[in-house]
Amino acid sequence: MTHKLMILPGDGIGVEVMAEVRKVLNWLQSESGIAFDISEGLIGGASIDAHKNPLTDETLAQCRKSDAVILGAVGGPKWADVDYAIRPEAGLLRLRKELGLFANLRPAMVFDALVDASTLKPEIVKGLDILIVRELTGGVYFGEPRGIEDLGNGQRRGFNTQTYTTEEIQRVGRVAFELARKRRNKVTSCEKANVMESGKLWREEITALHKAEYGDVELEHMYADNCAMQLLRRPSQFDVIVTDNLFGDILSDEASMLTGSLGMLPSASLGKPGAPGLYEPVHGSAPDIAGQGKANPLATILSLAMALRYSLNEGKTADRLEQAAQAVLNSGTRTADIMAPGCRQVSTSGMGDALIEQLRKTKAKAA
Ligand code: IPM
Ligand code: MG
Repeated sequence: MTHKLMILPGDGIGVEVMAEVRKVLNWLQSESGIAFDISEGLIGGASIDAHKNPLTDETLAQCRKSDAVILGAVGGPKWADVDYAIRPEAGLLRLRKELGLFANLRPAMVFDALVDASTLKPEIVKGLDILIVRELTGGVYFGEPRGIEDLGNGQRRGFNTQTYTTEEIQRVGRVAFELARKRRNKVTSCEKANVMESGKLWREEITALHKAEYGDVELEHMYADNCAMQLLRRPSQFDVIVTDNLFGDILSDEASMLTGSLGMLPSASLGKPGAPGLYEPVHGSAPDIAGQGKANPLATILSLAMALRYSLNEGKTADRLEQAAQAVLNSGTRTADIMAPGCRQVSTSGMGDALIEQLRKTKAKAA
């Protein structure tokens, strides 16, 4: 069976980290007998430059035909001043929306080797394993009306709409409860029910869903601001956090720093069964370090591992990839973002090479 993969490197460091994913795919293809049919396309600024459009219909159609889409990152200062509808980010948002990818899984795991890379005390982050389930196709990111209007008196008014329906809340809630059952059986649901109607509805619907279908899972509600604080105070209290699009964007960036670096966090965006999943690092295009070989490719490579697990039914290979990443870190190999005294600093491609070397070693051992 051949897995159809669509690769979208995007902008900035997206291009560099995807080159390392390619290396891993080539290795898997030739050494572990998994067959990939790989297409590549443009998204974000790269697509704006080529087609004046951050995501063309052709590229979208290619994505739809794939089993999984692996994306690097989009955006950069070059395209910062264009209209929202044609900004690089709009390409990514359209892709998520058109593929119906309503559940975004962002695991924040602290590898033992990186305990000291976090800005938090080791005893706070050691062994940490949190899963943020972010709603991805609703909320203020997509709500109408939105815009900037001229008030005519030298004043303008900017506005967006936060909106959620019962179904949107239920389906992402289900994903969170199901995943919690396979983990430590606890869900923390975050909103601002104290000030927002959409948050009140969120809390009511999650409560009702819990009562009807998931009474065996521990459920806790938390205001999103409190959650932001608790993530730093005592992160080990969390198992699965389910939250809306905007709070999920913010809380997942915060959670990434528990793990030491945004360069370590993968993500999976899933829709209805059978729909292609989208796999991308949580980090952005990092224009400040783009093109310098400094970026950490592990978040994107770990996103490939999630693709193998959730879309391609290759769970064993996903395990191998994650174990190899762990072994490379244990051996003291580091990119700049996670560098520590006594470790060996490598470039983006150096990290990719170290990972392949590790895969080779474990294969030789198993043989
Ligand atoms: C993310 C990013 C995106 C988002 C941007 C690039 C549109 O920050 O995936 O977290 O806000 O969703
Ligand atoms: Mg973000």
